[in-house]
Amino acid sequence: MQLIKILLCFGTRPEAIKMAPIVHALKKQKGVEVNVCVTAQHRQMLDQVLDFFEITPDYDLDLMMPNQSLNLLSSRILEKIDIVLLEVKPDWVLVHGDTTTSAMVAIAAFHQNIKVGHVEAGLRTYNKQAPFPEEVNRQLTSRIADVHFAPTNESVQNLVKEGILKDTIFKVGNTVVDALQWAIQKMNSGYHNKEILKLENQLDKSKKLILVTGHRRENFGDGFLKVCEALIDLSEREDVEIVYPVHLNPKVQEPVYKLLSNNKNIHLIPPAEYPLFIWLMQRAALIISDSGGIQEEAPTLGKRVLVTRNVTERKEGIDQGFSILVGTDKDKIVNEATQILEHFKGFDRIENPYGDGKASERIVEVFSIHHAQKRDT
Ligand code: UD1
Ligand code: UDP
Repeated sequence: MQLIKILLCFGTRPEAIKMAPIVHALKKQKGVEVNVCVTAQHRQMLDQVLDFFEITPDYDLDLMMPNQSLNLLSSRILEKIDIVLLEVKPDWVLVHGDTTTSAMVAIAAFHQNIKVGHVEAGLRTYNKQAPFPEEVNRQLTSRIADVHFAPTNESVQNLVKEGILKDTIFKVGNTVVDALQWAIQKMNSGYHNKEILKLENQLDKSKKLILVTGHRRENFGDGFLKVCEALIDLSEREDVEIVYPVHLNPKVQEPVYKLLSNNKNIHLIPPAEYPLFIWLMQRAALIISDSGGIQEEAPTLGKRVLVTRNVTERKEGIDQGFSILVGTDKDKIVNEATQILEHFKGFDRIENPYGDGKASERIVEVFSIHHAQKRDT
């Protein structure tokens, strides 16, 4: 029987979370040979995810360097993935989203005439500086990809407007919802996590929890400073406790630990394993974050997110009231947070605009149809 060979390639925490359900789904599919290659653009934060989702990569390029520059990382990815592509000779390479790993692997596959499938395609701000460099990574990958797995109507429309052939675009939803559902099911099936138990004992249940993350390059410097000032203000409320898992990027670690270490209502913790982070989101009264993935997960959990960015490529959540753009304006963050802490009683109806948990199934279906067509011709 003729096999279709698919190589999934990713490197950072969010890509791993969002590709994991596709790895699982493709591995169950007959007629498909699945290989996983991680660039390890992230090391510890990637390994946390691989471990939880029970994925052992076939290839691990182990590329992360402390404080890596975009160009050095890019050149190292191009060099190393070239060898893997020559060895595996896949029919398709699947990349995800907007990272340096996605854009460089897409270019490398194109150079070897290998077809590229782009998962989470079509998100746009049309602002090259925000998110930086992700907006351009997305646009580059769209120019190269042969198949585009777009999560929402808006992302489909963006691609169509850019002249991408309609029959190469598939609206499938965002696999982040599949991942979240898989994780919650695992957590409800006798899974124990020491870190959850530890934090459960440390936190004061009578207080409202504000969960915070941040890592965007465009917020480095002044932006992080202002967000931290807003958090200090909010931490002065007696009814509030803040938990902030701090991203391992030194440009995040340094200011955050310097500014927030000595505040009694602020807990700075290392990047949370995915189940711990889900547990924190479930407990949160409010999330303050510049993360893309968290904007997409929060609706499933019925949580509101103050998005510490000036623009977002995830507009659906804003339109439906799940997230609010606050930039890095200290007063705006404090005012909006206060409003939610004092008045938000939960959503009447929850429908996640980003997905329904079946995105990876739909992606597998597209490959099955393609495979059947290839066999018949
Ligand atoms: C990257 C992605 C960004 C994504 C984010 C998710 C690019 C350009 N950026 O940004 O799109 O939203 O990941 O978190 O692809 N580090 C560690 N251990 C880790 C991870 C990072 O020590 O497990 C430190 C290293 O010093 C590393 C630095 O963080 O050099 C920056 O990592 P990098 O992947 O280049 O950028 P991120 O800001 O994480
Ligand atoms: N996340 C996690 N631990 C944390 C912070 C985030 O597991 O301490 C998860 C989160 O639930 C989401 C993803 O990581 O699925 C988002 O990653 P990140 O914010 O690093 O990147 P982005 O989504 O902005 O690209």
